[in-house]
Amino acid sequence: MSILDYEVICEDCLTYLKQERIPYIHLTFLDPPFNQGKDYKCFDDEQNPEVYWGWLKEIIQLIHKVTVDGGAIYFMQREKNVDWMRRILSETGWTYQNLIIGKKLISAIPGDFRFEKNYQVIIFATKGKRPRVFNKLRIDYPLLPNYKHKRPNGVYLTDFWDDIREPTSGYFTGDETLRDKEGDSIHKQQPTIELLLRIILSSTNVGDTVFDPFAGNGTTLVVAYQLKRKSIGIEIDSDYEVIKKRLETASSADSVLKRRSYYRFTPELDEVWPTDGLPTGGLTRYINE
Ligand SMILES: C[S@@+](CC[C@H](N)C(=O)[O-])C[C@H]1O[C@@H](n2cnc3c(N)ncnc32)[C@H](O)[C@@H]1O
Repeated sequence: MSILDYEVICEDCLTYLKQERIPYIHLTFLDPPFNQGKDYKCFDDEQNPEVYWGWLKEIIQLIHKVTVDGGAIYFMQREKNVDWMRRILSETGWTYQNLIIGKKLISAIPGDFRFEKNYQVIIFATKGKRPRVFNKLRIDYPLLPNYKHKRPNGVYLTDFWDDIREPTSGYFTGDETLRDKEGDSIHKQQPTIELLLRIILSSTNVGDTVFDPFAGNGTTLVVAYQLKRKSIGIEIDSDYEVIKKRLETASSADSVLKRRSYYRFTPELDEVWPTDGLPTGGLTRYINE
């Protein structure tokens, strides 16, 4: 079975995975509803924790089955769920690599009796001990006030991501947040282009296949396409049509190219992130901007 440049499927991801329709996956971005009582159209976001984590475990197990050796998963969740995340990843055979901290830029509610949480977590894990691909990205990280010397070649990206806007939609996500006619965001949790950009660049090569079982607004597919990776997105909500529109029409807010100079110190950047020979139409309009 060949994989198209991108494929968007409106279905329950567990049902889809059980049908064993995907031949293989190199990277999964797993951004499920967090079971925190949000108002999803097709998901009960207030379940008994045992039921919720049992459901996610089954999904993660099926993803492991179709992932190639050394393939990666990036699993995003709330900090308070780290124990659950680590447990179900290890019980389904994944090897833990990193706990990435995605710093939020704003913390709206001050804590009454403890410090307020100002980050989200992403666990990076692999099938097998070592990743098959790990591209060492170098970024033009801004010089901190107490650092005297400029770094002429940037610095390597670490597990602390405080240099990109919010990992998911919020006050600072700006133009890329998809909104309805009233101006409200269509999705409760839209991850940023910048987040997916560094995940896909770090853990895949050109031509690899990226999987997003909770595709929402399709950020994963939008970024994968521009980076010449194939992608499969599953979304249960029939509003998934927004993904297709987003891929076909494109907005300059979704362009990865304007973020490229931040990564210019990365060795062999042209290989990891080629900008030539992209197919015409849709998003590619913006790729050469
Ligand atoms: C946290 S959002 C993901 C956001 C997404 N990564 C994006 O780029 O916008 C979770 C999404 O999962 C979808 N969803 C919930 N249950 C699902 C299921 N069983 N199968 C597929 N999608 C599901 C929800 O409709 C929602 O769009």
